[in-house]
Amino acid sequence: MSLLELDTVSVGWPGQGPVLEDVSFTLERGARVGLVGPNGAGKTSLFHTIAGILPPQSGALRLSGQPVRKGQFQPDVALVFQQADDQLFCPTLIEDVAFGARNLGLPAPEVAARVADALDACGLSGLEDRPVTQLSGGEKRRACIAGALVMQPALMLLDEPSAALDLRSRRRLITLLAGMEQAMLIASHDLELLLDLCPRVIVLDAGRICADGPAREVLGNAALMAAHGQEVPHSLTPHDAASHGHSPQATA
Ligand SMILES: Nc1ncnc2c1ncn2[C@@H]1O[C@H](COP(=O)(O)OP(=O)(O)OP(=O)(O)O)[C@@H](O)[C@H]1O
Ligand SMILES: [Mg+2]
Repeated sequence: MSLLELDTVSVGWPGQGPVLEDVSFTLERGARVGLVGPNGAGKTSLFHTIAGILPPQSGALRLSGQPVRKGQFQPDVALVFQQADDQLFCPTLIEDVAFGARNLGLPAPEVAARVADALDACGLSGLEDRPVTQLSGGEKRRACIAGALVMQPALMLLDEPSAALDLRSRRRLITLLAGMEQAMLIASHDLELLLDLCPRVIVLDAGRICADGPAREVLGNAALMAAHGQEVPHSLTPHDAASHGHSPQATA
């Protein structure tokens, strides 16, 4: 049985036309899938639907074979919000990161151990008592990821996880995610990050799936990328050392 199944799911925000139309795909346990599409394509709306915040108007959405119901607590799914300020709400970092684990009803020592591990993994140890309002943009993003990690969910929905991260933090995030067993859907405009992490990529545009296949095939398809407001990532573009400034002429 697939971890996640969407069967012709259509979704609309109240008072608006459809933002997702006939979206169908499945995700197996442990799979990492990139989600690519222009601004307004429906990536965040798709995550809100899977997380049970935005109910489908039609079609079927199942997690481990069970229908996802609006507002129902789903310990198997953790959503890392695109805007950190939409997610962080506790007075201090440690309380915020602990929230999900406490919600699972875990004993206090288990909560403390998971929080310490998540803070360490996200490079936030030492900032435990910092008010969340006093974290930098990149620290807030890492706090959101730590808050999802403590739940040890079967599926992580990461909405623009590398936005606002400096290069070292971005690389650290890639290493962290690459070492995780959980299934994840990663919505990102950072196509190189998707290439590093995701064997499979889905392209979403105007609420519809336009491509779903091997990452290098999909992201390397120049016509497809151009049709949906994207560019083939640099690492998939034929280029030689000269274009990196390594040629004798460039260094002379
Ligand atoms: N809370 C909301 N209420 C009403 N409409 C919304 C809401 N959130 C998003 N929309 C609309 O739904 C459509 C899809 O938006 P969504 O945020 O899912 O796009 P996205 O692919 O995540 O874009 P981006 O790359 O900019 O994050 C857009 O037309 C947007 O204006
Ligand atoms: Mg979005």
